[in-house]
Amino acid sequence: MKYLIKISSADKINTDCVAVIVWSKATPSDEAKAIDGASGKIISRLLRSGDFTGKLGETQILHGVDGINAKRVLLLGGGERKKFNGKNASKLLRVGAKTLYKLNTASAHFALSSVVVTDRDSAWLVSRVACDSEDVSYRYDTTKSKKNKPLSIKAISVAPPTGSRRKTAEYALKRGQSIGKAINCAKHLGNLPGNICTPTYLAIQAQNLDKRHRSLTTKVLTEKQMQRIGMGALLSVSAGSAEEAKLIVIHHKGARADSRPHVLVGKGVTFDTGGISLKSGGGMDEMKFDMCGAASVIAAMGSVAELKTPINVIGIVAAAENMPSSKATKPGDIVTSMSGKTIEILNTDAEGRLVLCDALSYVERFKPKTVVDIATLTGAAVATFGSHVTALLSNNDALAKSLRQCGEQSLDPAWQLPLWDEYQSMLNSNFADIANIGGPRAGTITAACFLSRFTEKYHWAHLDIAGSAWHSGALKGATGRPVSLLLEHLLSQKA
Ligand code: BES
Ligand code: MN
Ligand code: ZN
Repeated sequence: MKYLIKISSADKINTDCVAVIVWSKATPSDEAKAIDGASGKIISRLLRSGDFTGKLGETQILHGVDGINAKRVLLLGGGERKKFNGKNASKLLRVGAKTLYKLNTASAHFALSSVVVTDRDSAWLVSRVACDSEDVSYRYDTTKSKKNKPLSIKAISVAPPTGSRRKTAEYALKRGQSIGKAINCAKHLGNLPGNICTPTYLAIQAQNLDKRHRSLTTKVLTEKQMQRIGMGALLSVSAGSAEEAKLIVIHHKGARADSRPHVLVGKGVTFDTGGISLKSGGGMDEMKFDMCGAASVIAAMGSVAELKTPINVIGIVAAAENMPSSKATKPGDIVTSMSGKTIEILNTDAEGRLVLCDALSYVERFKPKTVVDIATLTGAAVATFGSHVTALLSNNDALAKSLRQCGEQSLDPAWQLPLWDEYQSMLNSNFADIANIGGPRAGTITAACFLSRFTEKYHWAHLDIAGSAWHSGALKGATGRPVSLLLEHLLSQKA
């Protein structure tokens, strides 16, 4: 899709479909009024009929409107104008894009000159046109024999809110499109089945990304190399699997070599059977999504490179498959992590923290400014937050606060849970330095407590996306979260 800024009035714009807003109580926006005036009151007549009231998310297509250049008009209900906040704006844009995609049109235009978002600036709104349009265009067909028809629409233009600088608006579109594409990339990787999306497959994807962007260099550690640096925790997870574990390290160089990097670490368990602590059968297929943290890291790195972000960023993926077999790790086994700490594995299904802890020790060498790990780590996060909110825990309050704000700004929310010392003793072991589970209570917190033992040397935050990374049921599929939160975090950093 091409995204363009076109500053032209709604009645004059040349397009297959011009989208304008009607506010609640059938109140036309200035752009709707322009079309109304040019067309001999077609919108006034519709509104008077009571068939369209301007409720948020309402849509109506008008064909053959006289006096304007566009072939069609899409009326979008904007709800109460004074309550048009970021959330509502995104809802409207998503409904708008979905409606446009059903039409047989090559181009469309969002006429937004008079639009004010109560809690965001106009660049945000423009960027959201591209981001939401990309996001809702995603459809999965990789492993279906019948492929989806490509969208007929090839270009979306925007008339930005009056007063926007052209350059700013153009960059906003570019940024929004890049984020939208990254969200879709994460969905795609997440949705692939475990027999395709293996640790090796993820490594190849990262290496492909590296070929597309000059700022990226990717290194992939094999099991042998991981053994040499003592990653006994990570390797204990892949021990029962025929698939080789990989540690994928993606460097983005956007600043001087001595500028300390921001680091992302993703859990990449490409299938989680639970191992010897085998999961029950129902819904186990969804454990192919247990690499959604990894997917968000790979996708975010692509966008960071595409947008030539002027900071150094390192994306790490700890990729492994968790299987039972005669070689698999057993409950009670004790392994030595890269940090030297010994771990008693009381439950082989608590494997995410085992792959992450070695990756988190590995990143010490980069002297990172911040480290954020992203993981589908605990069922308890689903129980706590459902699917709307990502759990956030951190050893640094400033970082936690900043990530919470990034989540709010990007409509990809995260909410903080306490990471207090009182919980640490739940991980005591009689036989090792630490146990890998903390019992049935406060599961999301004790999982983060486990990770915190390996992150003492830097500012670190943990995002548990077990609830937010995918939908179950009829709409089963990866959501692409928390890619927009991560990009908000990285793109707002200063070199
Ligand atoms: N990948 C799962 C977490 C998960 C479960 C995410 C369900 C989404 C839905 C993780 O590896 C896991 O199995 N966690 C266990 C930990 C427990 C054994 C301490 C869990 O949450 O049950
Ligand atoms: Mn598990
Ligand atoms: Zn898991």
